[in-house]
Amino acid sequence: MTDKVRIDTLSAHSLPQSNDTFLARQAEFESNVRSYPRKLPLAIAKAQGVWITDVENNQYLDCLAGAGTLALGHNHPDVLQSIQSVISSGLPLHTLDLTTPLKDEFSSYLLSLLPGQGKEYCLQFTGPSGADAVEAALKLAKKVTGRSGIISFSGAYHGMTHGALSVTGNLSPKEAVSNMMPEVQFMPYPHLYRCPLGIGGDAGVKALTYYFENLINDVESGVRKPAAVILEAVQGEGGVNPAPVEWLQRIRKVTQEHGILLILDEVQAGFCRTGKLFAFEHAGIEPDIIVMSKAVGGGLPLAVLGIKKQFDAWAPGHHTGTFRGNQLAMATGLTTLKILKDKSVADKVTAQGEWLKGKLADLQKRYPVIGHVRGLGLMIGIEIVKPDEAQDHMGCYPADGELSALLQKKCFESGLILERGGRHGCVLRLLPSLLITDEELGIFLDKFENALLGAGIKPV
Ligand SMILES: Cc1ncc(COP(=O)(O)O)c(C=O)c1O
Repeated sequence: MTDKVRIDTLSAHSLPQSNDTFLARQAEFESNVRSYPRKLPLAIAKAQGVWITDVENNQYLDCLAGAGTLALGHNHPDVLQSIQSVISSGLPLHTLDLTTPLKDEFSSYLLSLLPGQGKEYCLQFTGPSGADAVEAALKLAKKVTGRSGIISFSGAYHGMTHGALSVTGNLSPKEAVSNMMPEVQFMPYPHLYRCPLGIGGDAGVKALTYYFENLINDVESGVRKPAAVILEAVQGEGGVNPAPVEWLQRIRKVTQEHGILLILDEVQAGFCRTGKLFAFEHAGIEPDIIVMSKAVGGGLPLAVLGIKKQFDAWAPGHHTGTFRGNQLAMATGLTTLKILKDKSVADKVTAQGEWLKGKLADLQKRYPVIGHVRGLGLMIGIEIVKPDEAQDHMGCYPADGELSALLQKKCFESGLILERGGRHGCVLRLLPSLLITDEELGIFLDKFENALLGAGIKPV
């Protein structure tokens, strides 16, 4: 056993180091389902902090960060060191759901971050993706209540597995998939810019709150009392929509009164992204089930549920999954969580988010194609509109998904990686490393304005 298999990540073979070559090969190797490479056509050679370098040595400011997974950016030295420590400790890489001293430390630290220091919660390690954890949460709510319905919201994103997709708002991935999970009732989610009731402002939020409460109380609503309500406190893929505090508080109260479990999906908004450890903390509420993935694994695959102990109705082995014991992910997750807490990253994120929204609002005055800037912390959305067309009765211009796509392309060409979301992809979204510096945010603003100019948009 002396032969070593060595994989050299940078030149596995003697291919010309060009993006086009790798992309063409990717198109040959992989299914049509691939998505990011179509919008961000590069092959990555290396990455550090907020910067990505492609195989042609072009540099990009990465404001996507693995779809919000890389809370500390790429290859943070402490995160890399924690991987080295696991490797040299002799721990197995994978342990199913068997415990280890590392898992023990990770669990106790993660619990200490949950409401009330986690005293009323226990953890469930699920399969490693956000959708895996959502599936477990939905099943558990059904088991606890003996009911079958789930209430979800327009614009929600909870993942692509069958159950998670059933509670997701976006219709296009559902189109050709028959027999979604039955008894999913969608309710309108508040929207700061485009109120789904066409009312807007505080009155719109009040009406949405009333509508929700009335549906639960109305014995002729046609909707059976659900097992759970699932929601994001700030919708991400849905176009960066923060839920109004009073709406969230009311939903918490009503669900509690009716014995309906409240599932908060913190997969994207959790772990300081919005300027609080968890996005639901903005409303001071306590969920029954907290869904965690992405940043909880510090960049490696890991997903965990925080379950109020009184709702831990599982029988042993009734929800399993092979990949629940990734020791490397627990090490990188633990390091990430400790840095987020010890360095008060949430406060920095809050201040930067407010500063950035102010700068974007200034830009909006000069570029009316920016219809709305919204978000919390470093989860910010810029909605692109058609300012030359007629406003609706609430003063909103039509959304411009095409221009938003062009701007994403122009950003990419000027070395800035941004994702899109929202209806027709009309919202450009920022999800950078939470350690991004003020100077790097300044670079973002310069590159973004360059992209506007590059798309032929003239300042007014
Ligand atoms: C709020 C939310 N929930 C669930 C998911 C699904 O996570 P995954 O893609 O890891 O399955 C995502 C992914 O973006 C998400 O943003």
